[in-house]
Amino acid sequence: MKTILDFHEKKQKGQKISMITCYDSTFAAILAQSSVDCLLVGDSLAMVMHGYKTTLNASVGMMALHTAAVTRTAGDKFIVSDLPFLSNRKGLTANVTAAEKIMKAGAHALKLEGADGNLELIRHLVDSGVPIMGHLGLTPQSVHQLGGFKVQGRDQKARAKIKKSALQLQEAGAFALVLECVPSDLAQEITASLEIPTIGIGAGRDCDGQVLVLQDMLGLNQSFKPKFLKTYFSGFQTLQNVFNQYHQEVVDGVFPSQKESYT
Ligand code: KIV
Repeated sequence: MKTILDFHEKKQKGQKISMITCYDSTFAAILAQSSVDCLLVGDSLAMVMHGYKTTLNASVGMMALHTAAVTRTAGDKFIVSDLPFLSNRKGLTANVTAAEKIMKAGAHALKLEGADGNLELIRHLVDSGVPIMGHLGLTPQSVHQLGGFKVQGRDQKARAKIKKSALQLQEAGAFALVLECVPSDLAQEITASLEIPTIGIGAGRDCDGQVLVLQDMLGLNQSFKPKFLKTYFSGFQTLQNVFNQYHQEVVDGVFPSQKESYT
């Protein structure tokens, strides 16, 4: 996928969209050769790449740095980057400056969490040429307000609120919407009610697309096992085996052999 028009086309044709997070140029080069549709430089990089407990520590500088690293090797993949915590709540000029830094680092679109208080900025950015992806349900930047990383939209009031916000984001000009950790039937209703595609994570199979965090789907993080996650690779154990083999070969004098040595 190369532009936001491809997102609309896929929804119209009933074709699913795949998105994976990516934060560095090594993985971007691998993903560039894959059939994955779209890369997300998520603010989850604060946790995955920098070891913080939440995404609140992601800054505009971090987002721009990682976005630039990804765009250098991502070929023609469509790249969405997150506006980090509070960078979109500082008044229009400061908000636009944050958006400008990340777009100029190479993003093709920006993602921003929540609808309340963001709609004017979304309209302004869209009118200024910045494609916006929305994000509803579990919005990790509000983890302290939500009382933890919990499934959202379980009662009628919360469901109605998320549905209303989804329509507001579409009306404000968002080209797609991430739905995180909401009941599948709610995601299905929202997906059916919108013209823009929904991309789910923990939101069931009826979304128009899916997103996973790269390191999670590769099984690199042994301590993160939410119900929604499917691991496609035993990354932690496989890498342990590789590192231990290397260590043993060094200890045993097996590596380097003649083959890896200069004459
Ligand atoms: O930051 C992120 O990785 C995200 C995805 C989980 C959707 O927002």
